[in-house]
Amino acid sequence: MRSVIDILDLSVEEIDELIRTACDMIENPKKYSECLKGKKIATLFFEPSTRTRLSFEAAMMELGGSALGFSDAKNSSASKGETVSDTARVVSCYADIIAMRHPLEGAPYVASLAASIPVINAGDGGHAHPTQTLADLLTIYREKGRFHNLTVGFCGDLKYGRPVHSLIHALSRYTGVKIVLISPDELALPDYIKRDVIEKHGMPYYETTSLDEAIPELDVLYMTRVQGERFDDPDEYFRLKDFYILDPAKLENAKSDMIILHPLPRVDEITVDVDADPRACYFKQVFNGKNMRKALILKLVTEAEANPASAKRPTRMLSSNICKNSRCICKSERGLIPQAVETDEGLRCAFCDSAVEIN
Ligand code: NCD
Repeated sequence: MRSVIDILDLSVEEIDELIRTACDMIENPKKYSECLKGKKIATLFFEPSTRTRLSFEAAMMELGGSALGFSDAKNSSASKGETVSDTARVVSCYADIIAMRHPLEGAPYVASLAASIPVINAGDGGHAHPTQTLADLLTIYREKGRFHNLTVGFCGDLKYGRPVHSLIHALSRYTGVKIVLISPDELALPDYIKRDVIEKHGMPYYETTSLDEAIPELDVLYMTRVQGERFDDPDEYFRLKDFYILDPAKLENAKSDMIILHPLPRVDEITVDVDADPRACYFKQVFNGKNMRKALILKLVTEAEANPASAKRPTRMLSSNICKNSRCICKSERGLIPQAVETDEGLRCAFCDSAVEIN
Protein backbone atom coordinates (compact mmCIF):
# COMPACT_ATOMS: atom_id res chain seq x y z
CA MET A 1 0.00 0.00 0.00
CA ARG A 2 1.31 3.37 -0.95
CA SER A 3 0.66 6.99 -0.17
CA VAL A 4 1.44 10.06 -2.29
CA ILE A 5 3.01 12.73 -0.10
CA ASP A 6 5.39 14.23 -2.63
CA ILE A 7 5.17 14.32 -6.42
CA LEU A 8 8.42 12.28 -6.53
CA ASP A 9 6.54 9.41 -4.88
CA LEU A 10 5.27 8.83 -8.43
CA SER A 11 7.74 7.81 -11.13
CA VAL A 12 7.72 9.48 -14.57
CA GLU A 13 6.22 6.25 -15.96
CA GLU A 14 3.44 6.32 -13.36
CA ILE A 15 2.69 9.95 -14.18
CA ASP A 16 2.48 9.00 -17.87
CA GLU A 17 0.10 6.19 -16.95
CA LEU A 18 -2.07 8.57 -14.83
CA ILE A 19 -2.19 11.01 -17.76
CA ARG A 20 -3.30 8.21 -20.11
CA THR A 21 -5.97 7.09 -17.65
CA ALA A 22 -7.19 10.66 -17.01
CA CYS A 23 -7.45 11.31 -20.77
CA ASP A 24 -9.47 8.11 -21.16
CA MET A 25 -11.68 9.15 -18.24
CA ILE A 26 -12.33 12.47 -20.00
CA GLU A 27 -13.23 10.63 -23.24
CA ASN A 28 -15.20 7.78 -21.65
CA PRO A 29 -16.48 8.82 -18.22
CA LYS A 30 -19.15 6.07 -18.15
CA LYS A 31 -16.53 3.34 -18.36
CA TYR A 32 -15.26 4.35 -14.89
CA SER A 33 -18.53 5.33 -13.21
CA GLU A 34 -18.83 2.22 -11.05
CA CYS A 35 -15.28 1.05 -10.59
CA LEU A 36 -14.98 2.15 -6.95
CA LYS A 37 -18.59 1.41 -5.99
CA GLY A 38 -18.91 1.11 -2.21
CA LYS A 39 -15.54 2.76 -1.54
CA LYS A 40 -15.14 5.94 0.48
CA ILE A 41 -12.69 8.82 0.49
CA ALA A 42 -12.15 10.80 3.70
CA THR A 43 -11.24 14.42 3.00
CA LEU A 44 -9.55 15.75 6.14
CA PHE A 45 -9.07 19.46 5.54
CA PHE A 46 -7.50 21.37 8.43
CA GLU A 47 -7.06 24.44 6.18
CA PRO A 48 -9.47 26.29 3.84
CA SER A 49 -10.10 24.90 0.37
CA THR A 50 -12.73 25.05 -2.35
CA ARG A 51 -11.27 23.32 -5.37
CA THR A 52 -9.05 20.67 -3.93
CA ARG A 53 -11.52 19.21 -1.43
CA LEU A 54 -14.51 19.31 -3.77
CA SER A 55 -12.34 17.97 -6.56
CA PHE A 56 -11.33 14.90 -4.51
CA GLU A 57 -14.95 14.34 -3.46
CA ALA A 58 -16.32 14.77 -7.00
CA ALA A 59 -13.57 12.48 -8.31
CA MET A 60 -14.53 9.68 -5.91
CA MET A 61 -18.25 10.13 -6.66
CA GLU A 62 -17.60 9.92 -10.40
CA LEU A 63 -15.86 6.60 -9.75
CA GLY A 64 -19.00 5.30 -8.02
CA GLY A 65 -17.76 5.85 -4.48
CA SER A 66 -18.70 8.34 -1.81
CA ALA A 67 -17.03 10.95 0.41
CA LEU A 68 -16.97 11.92 4.06
CA GLY A 69 -14.83 14.30 6.06
CA PHE A 70 -14.49 17.81 7.43
CA SER A 71 -13.45 21.12 5.94
CA ASP A 72 -12.35 22.98 9.03
CA ALA A 73 -10.04 21.90 11.87
CA LYS A 74 -12.52 23.50 14.31
CA ASN A 75 -15.04 20.80 13.39
CA SER A 76 -12.61 17.96 14.09
CA SER A 77 -11.12 16.48 17.25
CA ALA A 78 -7.90 18.37 16.45
CA SER A 79 -9.59 21.25 18.31
CA LYS A 80 -9.69 18.97 21.38
CA GLY A 81 -5.99 18.21 21.03
CA GLU A 82 -6.06 14.97 19.02
CA THR A 83 -2.86 14.16 17.18
CA VAL A 84 -2.74 13.76 13.40
CA SER A 85 -1.64 10.13 13.92
CA ASP A 86 -4.68 9.30 16.05
CA THR A 87 -7.03 10.99 13.58
CA ALA A 88 -5.50 8.96 10.74
CA ARG A 89 -5.80 5.70 12.67
CA VAL A 90 -9.46 6.40 13.48
CA VAL A 91 -10.36 7.42 9.93
CA SER A 92 -8.73 4.23 8.59
CA CYS A 93 -11.72 2.39 10.14
CA TYR A 94 -14.21 4.47 8.14
CA ALA A 95 -12.72 5.00 4.69
CA ASP A 96 -10.58 3.43 1.94
CA ILE A 97 -8.36 6.42 1.22
CA ILE A 98 -7.56 9.78 2.85
CA ALA A 99 -6.90 13.16 1.24
CA MET A 100 -5.40 15.49 3.85
CA ARG A 101 -4.67 19.20 3.83
CA HIS A 102 -2.91 20.67 6.86
CA PRO A 103 -1.14 23.93 7.72
CA LEU A 104 1.79 22.05 9.28
CA GLU A 105 4.47 20.74 6.93
CA GLY A 106 4.75 16.97 7.02
CA ALA A 107 1.30 16.34 8.54
CA PRO A 108 0.08 14.09 5.68
CA TYR A 109 3.32 12.09 5.95
CA VAL A 110 2.72 11.59 9.67
CA ALA A 111 -0.84 10.49 8.82
CA SER A 112 0.51 7.99 6.29
CA LEU A 113 2.74 6.41 8.96
CA ALA A 114 -0.26 5.81 11.21
CA ALA A 115 -3.00 5.02 8.67
CA SER A 116 -3.77 1.57 7.30
CA ILE A 117 -5.14 3.10 4.07
CA PRO A 118 -3.38 5.27 1.44
CA VAL A 119 -2.96 8.98 2.22
CA ILE A 120 -2.77 11.70 -0.42
CA ASN A 121 -1.17 15.02 0.50
CA ALA A 122 -3.67 17.72 -0.52
CA GLY A 123 -1.28 20.51 0.53
CA ASP A 124 0.89 20.80 3.67
CA GLY A 125 1.86 24.30 4.76
CA GLY A 126 4.26 25.91 2.30
CA HIS A 127 5.79 22.54 1.49
CA ALA A 128 4.14 20.45 -1.24
CA HIS A 129 0.93 19.93 -3.21
CA PRO A 130 1.43 16.91 -5.49
CA THR A 131 -2.10 16.63 -6.86
CA GLN A 132 -2.06 20.28 -7.97
CA THR A 133 1.06 19.28 -9.89
CA LEU A 134 -0.84 16.42 -11.52
CA ALA A 135 -3.47 18.98 -12.60
CA ASP A 136 -0.72 21.26 -13.93
CA LEU A 137 0.99 18.43 -15.81
CA LEU A 138 -2.19 17.24 -17.49
CA THR A 139 -2.93 20.83 -18.53
CA ILE A 140 0.57 21.32 -19.96
CA TYR A 141 0.28 17.96 -21.75
CA ARG A 142 -3.14 18.72 -23.26
CA GLU A 143 -2.24 22.29 -24.26
CA LYS A 144 1.42 21.95 -25.31
CA GLY A 145 1.65 18.21 -26.07
CA ARG A 146 4.99 17.79 -24.26
CA PHE A 147 6.97 18.40 -21.08
CA HIS A 148 10.37 18.57 -22.73
CA ASN A 149 11.92 21.76 -24.15
CA LEU A 150 9.68 24.28 -22.46
CA THR A 151 10.54 27.59 -20.83
CA VAL A 152 8.41 27.85 -17.71
CA GLY A 153 8.12 31.10 -15.73
CA PHE A 154 6.92 31.03 -12.11
CA CYS A 155 5.67 34.40 -10.93
CA GLY A 156 4.66 35.73 -7.50
CA ASP A 157 5.04 33.98 -4.16
CA LEU A 158 7.70 31.38 -4.86
CA LYS A 159 8.63 31.14 -1.19
CA TYR A 160 5.37 29.83 0.26
CA GLY A 161 3.59 28.71 -2.94
CA ARG A 162 3.55 24.94 -2.48
CA PRO A 163 2.22 24.22 -6.02
CA VAL A 164 5.38 25.91 -7.38
CA HIS A 165 7.66 23.70 -5.28
CA SER A 166 5.96 20.50 -6.39
CA LEU A 167 5.81 21.46 -10.08
CA ILE A 168 9.52 22.36 -10.16
CA HIS A 169 10.30 18.95 -8.67
CA ALA A 170 8.17 17.29 -11.35
CA LEU A 171 9.68 19.27 -14.24
CA SER A 172 13.24 18.49 -13.09
CA ARG A 173 12.78 14.98 -14.52
CA TYR A 174 12.28 16.18 -18.12
CA THR A 175 14.97 17.43 -20.50
CA GLY A 176 15.32 20.89 -21.97
CA VAL A 177 13.14 22.63 -19.37
CA LYS A 178 14.30 26.17 -18.60
CA ILE A 179 12.99 27.82 -15.43
CA VAL A 180 12.48 31.56 -14.95
CA LEU A 181 11.86 32.61 -11.33
CA ILE A 182 9.98 35.91 -11.19
CA SER A 183 9.48 37.27 -7.67
CA PRO A 184 10.41 40.06 -5.29
CA ASP A 185 13.50 39.13 -3.22
CA GLU A 186 11.33 38.59 -0.13
CA LEU A 187 9.33 35.86 -1.90
CA ALA A 188 12.18 34.10 -3.72
CA LEU A 189 12.19 30.33 -4.16
CA PRO A 190 13.74 28.61 -1.10
CA ASP A 191 17.44 27.90 -1.56
CA TYR A 192 17.04 24.17 -1.01
CA ILE A 193 14.81 23.87 -4.08
CA LYS A 194 17.12 26.06 -6.17
CA ARG A 195 20.21 24.11 -5.16
CA ASP A 196 18.94 20.57 -4.69
CA VAL A 197 16.40 20.45 -7.51
CA ILE A 198 17.10 23.03 -10.22
CA GLU A 199 20.90 23.16 -10.01
CA LYS A 200 21.29 19.47 -9.20
CA HIS A 201 19.43 18.54 -12.38
CA GLY A 202 21.42 21.07 -14.43
CA MET A 203 18.26 22.96 -15.41
CA PRO A 204 19.04 26.35 -16.92
CA TYR A 205 17.39 29.10 -14.83
CA TYR A 206 17.54 32.72 -13.81
CA GLU A 207 15.86 34.93 -11.24
CA THR A 208 14.33 38.31 -11.99
CA THR A 209 11.91 40.74 -10.40
CA SER A 210 10.58 41.82 -13.84
CA LEU A 211 7.63 39.98 -15.37
CA ASP A 212 7.79 42.35 -18.37
CA GLU A 213 11.36 41.32 -19.15
CA ALA A 214 10.71 37.61 -18.77
CA ILE A 215 7.34 37.22 -20.49
CA PRO A 216 8.43 37.22 -24.19
CA GLU A 217 10.41 33.96 -23.90
CA LEU A 218 7.90 31.93 -21.86
CA ASP A 219 5.96 28.89 -23.10
CA VAL A 220 4.18 28.54 -19.75
CA LEU A 221 3.51 31.34 -17.26
CA TYR A 222 2.59 30.02 -13.80
CA MET A 223 1.04 32.86 -11.78
CA THR A 224 0.56 32.53 -8.02
CA ARG A 225 -1.25 34.27 -5.19
CA VAL A 226 0.81 35.85 -2.41
CA GLN A 227 0.09 33.49 0.51
CA GLY A 228 -1.07 36.01 3.15
CA GLU A 229 -1.87 33.28 5.68
CA ARG A 230 1.81 32.24 5.91
CA PHE A 231 3.25 35.70 6.69
CA ASP A 232 4.31 36.53 10.24
CA ASP A 233 4.03 40.27 9.50
CA PRO A 234 0.71 41.45 7.92
CA ASP A 235 2.30 44.76 6.76
CA GLU A 236 4.81 42.79 4.71
CA TYR A 237 1.90 40.94 3.06
CA PHE A 238 0.09 44.18 2.16
CA ARG A 239 3.31 45.61 0.74
CA LEU A 240 3.89 42.59 -1.51
CA LYS A 241 0.45 41.31 -2.43
CA ASP A 242 0.00 43.35 -5.62
CA PHE A 243 3.60 43.18 -6.77
CA TYR A 244 2.54 41.46 -10.02
CA ILE A 245 -0.72 42.00 -11.84
CA LEU A 246 -1.13 40.20 -15.16
CA ASP A 247 -3.42 42.16 -17.49
CA PRO A 248 -4.04 42.25 -21.26
CA ALA A 249 -1.37 44.96 -21.76
CA LYS A 250 1.32 42.77 -20.19
CA LEU A 251 0.27 39.87 -22.42
CA GLU A 252 0.92 41.84 -25.60
CA ASN A 253 4.59 40.84 -25.49
CA ALA A 254 3.91 37.16 -24.74
CA LYS A 255 4.06 34.35 -27.31
CA SER A 256 0.75 33.70 -29.04
CA ASP A 257 0.81 30.08 -27.82
CA MET A 258 2.05 30.72 -24.30
CA ILE A 259 -0.29 29.21 -21.69
CA ILE A 260 -1.22 30.94 -18.42
CA LEU A 261 -1.62 28.66 -15.42
CA HIS A 262 -2.69 29.50 -11.86
CA PRO A 263 -3.58 26.98 -9.14
CA LEU A 264 -6.39 29.32 -7.96
CA PRO A 265 -7.80 30.98 -5.91
CA ARG A 266 -6.93 34.09 -7.87
CA VAL A 267 -6.98 37.36 -5.96
CA ASP A 268 -5.74 40.40 -7.93
CA GLU A 269 -2.70 38.91 -9.65
CA ILE A 270 -4.63 38.18 -12.88
CA THR A 271 -7.25 40.71 -13.93
CA VAL A 272 -10.62 39.22 -14.91
CA ASP A 273 -10.34 40.55 -18.47
CA VAL A 274 -7.50 38.07 -19.06
CA ASP A 275 -10.02 35.21 -18.70
CA ALA A 276 -11.28 35.68 -22.26
CA ASP A 277 -7.74 35.34 -23.68
CA PRO A 278 -7.34 31.90 -25.30
CA ARG A 279 -4.02 31.54 -23.49
CA ALA A 280 -5.76 31.56 -20.08
CA CYS A 281 -5.89 27.92 -18.95
CA TYR A 282 -6.55 28.19 -15.22
CA PHE A 283 -10.14 27.01 -15.36
CA LYS A 284 -9.11 24.11 -17.62
CA GLN A 285 -6.63 23.21 -14.85
CA VAL A 286 -9.56 22.76 -12.44
CA PHE A 287 -11.25 20.27 -14.79
CA ASN A 288 -7.98 18.47 -15.45
CA GLY A 289 -7.26 18.33 -11.72
CA LYS A 290 -10.47 16.45 -11.03
CA ASN A 291 -9.63 13.90 -13.72
CA MET A 292 -6.05 13.39 -12.49
CA ARG A 293 -7.38 12.92 -8.94
CA LYS A 294 -9.82 10.32 -10.31
CA ALA A 295 -6.94 8.46 -11.93
CA LEU A 296 -4.81 8.69 -8.77
CA ILE A 297 -7.58 7.56 -6.39
CA LEU A 298 -8.35 4.60 -8.66
CA LYS A 299 -4.67 3.63 -8.79
CA LEU A 300 -4.03 3.88 -5.04
CA VAL A 301 -7.23 2.16 -3.90
CA THR A 302 -6.70 -0.67 -6.41
CA GLU A 303 -3.04 -1.05 -5.40
CA ALA A 304 -3.89 -1.03 -1.67
CA GLU A 305 -6.38 -3.87 -2.20
CA ALA A 306 -3.78 -5.91 -4.03
CA ASN A 307 -1.00 -5.13 -1.56
CA PRO A 308 -2.25 -4.05 1.86
CA ALA A 309 1.23 -4.03 3.46
CA SER A 310 2.33 -0.50 4.04
CA ALA A 311 5.42 0.75 2.18
CA LYS A 312 7.48 3.03 4.41
CA ARG A 313 10.12 5.45 3.13
CA PRO A 314 13.66 4.64 4.27
CA THR A 315 14.42 7.06 7.10
CA ARG A 316 16.89 7.33 9.96
CA MET A 317 15.57 7.84 13.51
CA LEU A 318 17.21 10.71 15.39
CA SER A 319 17.81 10.91 19.12
CA SER A 320 16.95 14.63 19.30
CA ASN A 321 14.74 16.97 17.31
CA ILE A 322 17.12 19.07 15.25
CA CYS A 323 14.67 20.31 12.61
CA LYS A 324 14.72 24.12 12.66
CA ASN A 325 11.47 24.67 10.75
CA SER A 326 8.86 26.11 13.11
CA ARG A 327 6.09 25.13 10.66
CA CYS A 328 7.08 21.44 10.71
CA ILE A 329 4.68 18.91 12.29
CA CYS A 330 7.62 17.49 14.27
CA LYS A 331 7.43 20.53 16.55
CA SER A 332 3.94 19.78 17.82
CA GLU A 333 2.84 16.17 17.22
CA ARG A 334 3.07 14.27 20.52
CA GLY A 335 5.04 11.03 20.48
CA LEU A 336 6.64 11.65 17.08
CA ILE A 337 10.19 10.37 16.83
CA PRO A 338 12.33 12.80 14.78
CA GLN A 339 13.43 11.21 11.53
CA ALA A 340 15.76 12.22 8.74
CA VAL A 341 16.30 11.10 5.16
CA GLU A 342 19.83 10.76 3.76
CA THR A 343 20.18 12.64 0.46
CA ASP A 344 23.15 13.49 -1.75
CA GLU A 345 23.05 16.96 -0.20
CA GLY A 346 23.01 15.74 3.40
CA LEU A 347 20.33 14.98 5.96
CA ARG A 348 16.81 16.37 5.59
CA CYS A 349 13.92 16.29 8.01
CA ALA A 350 11.72 13.39 6.87
CA PHE A 351 8.57 15.43 7.50
CA CYS A 352 9.21 18.87 5.99
CA ASP A 353 12.36 18.34 3.84
CA SER A 354 14.34 21.13 5.50
CA ALA A 355 18.08 20.56 5.95
CA VAL A 356 19.10 19.23 9.36
CA GLU A 357 22.59 19.00 10.80
CA ILE A 358 23.93 16.67 13.46
CA ASN A 359 26.68 18.46 15.41
C1 NCD B 1 -3.31 26.34 -3.93
C2 NCD B 1 -2.98 25.80 -2.55
O1 NCD B 1 -3.87 25.57 -1.73
O2 NCD B 1 -1.80 25.64 -2.30
N1 NCD B 1 -4.66 26.20 -4.27
C3 NCD B 1 -5.15 25.00 -4.68
O3 NCD B 1 -4.96 23.98 -4.11
N2 NCD B 1 -5.84 25.00 -5.83
C4 NCD B 1 -2.80 27.70 -4.16
C5 NCD B 1 -3.20 28.80 -3.21
O4 NCD B 1 -3.90 28.61 -2.23
O5 NCD B 1 -2.78 29.91 -3.49
